[in-house]
Amino acid sequence: MSKKTHDSILEGVLVCSNADCLGEYPIIDGVPIVVADLRNYVSQNIIPILSRSDLSETTESLLGDCCGPGSAFDSYRQHLSTYTFDHYGNLDSNESEDAPVLPGSVLNLLKQGLTGLDKKVGGAAIDLGCAVGRTSFELARTIDDLIIGVDLNFAMLRTAAAILHHGRVAYPKRRVGIVFDKREFAAAFEGSSKVDFWACDATLLPFADESFALAASLNVIDCVQSPYDHLKELGRVLKANGGAIICAPYDWNVNVTPAETWLGGHSQRSESRGASENMLRSLLAGGEHPYALQELELISESEALPWSLRLHDRSFMNYLVHLLVVRKRSSSPPSLIS
Ligand SMILES: C[S@@+](CC[C@H](N)C(=O)[O-])C[C@H]1O[C@@H](n2cnc3c(N)ncnc32)[C@H](O)[C@@H]1O
Repeated sequence: MSKKTHDSILEGVLVCSNADCLGEYPIIDGVPIVVADLRNYVSQNIIPILSRSDLSETTESLLGDCCGPGSAFDSYRQHLSTYTFDHYGNLDSNESEDAPVLPGSVLNLLKQGLTGLDKKVGGAAIDLGCAVGRTSFELARTIDDLIIGVDLNFAMLRTAAAILHHGRVAYPKRRVGIVFDKREFAAAFEGSSKVDFWACDATLLPFADESFALAASLNVIDCVQSPYDHLKELGRVLKANGGAIICAPYDWNVNVTPAETWLGGHSQRSESRGASENMLRSLLAGGEHPYALQELELISESEALPWSLRLHDRSFMNYLVHLLVVRKRSSSPPSLIS
């Protein structure tokens, strides 16, 4: 019953081959959904899963007006607008070169991280929280193996998969309020046949230990429920001596990350003085920290790199991002906690 192109499955069901499991995971619009609680994921994401892309700008704008500001539809369109502009806007001939915020700031972060990485370990790469996927395509330029972009936002993954399968970017670009202009343009990337996009939880990855030679976590730590679990998973799936690029503006938000799980951002009386940078460094320093990420080692860091996102024609967010390049130690020292 699967729907295929010459080299991809666009719709189908993956079935776990373990006879004691036989878990089913759907592939929808080319995106495998491999999450621990599939029922919960599907019921929470049924709107983007069933949403369609064939409606005209006029009809979409009428639907947008009916749903109104702050609705789920509005929120999906805002996310698509912000991230698709930053990831692919430099390929849109309709974009002006003297716009107040130029697209491509995440590409600069990736480039900066890659220059700090020792590329000796061969193997696949994982782009954690890939959003609409441009950084996964960029990784394909330098990595001669599989690149998996993972995210939980189905609307963004579908956009990424459509670019992969059809070579076209199509997205609603927010102008003002709930007014969005449909943008569409071609995008082709060298090595894109090595790229795939999956719906997976970056705090509970469905991959075996040591599956990847490289991991990127760009602006994701402060967007997950548990930053610590995310970093543990990143360390678990990396091969020995594999490298990772981690960056974040530490823009903590309790609607996404409970304050108890923030890395810093509170407890300014503590040794780390509430600084997220110090907290992350101390987790990566090994030693006696009860939560030390023993398998990861800090190689280099940049304190404050610009990352700018566009909200609408007259609104932008400028962040300063802390970027770290880390490596997985070849053998983890024994745990200090008995
Ligand atoms: C701030 S955006 C950064 C996107 C992209 N890396 C960039 O820098 O442009 C954070 C991304 O993490 C994704 N995300 C949040 N929680 C996640 C989780 N548990 N697993 C996978 N992705 C997640 C969001 O959907 C979003 O696409």
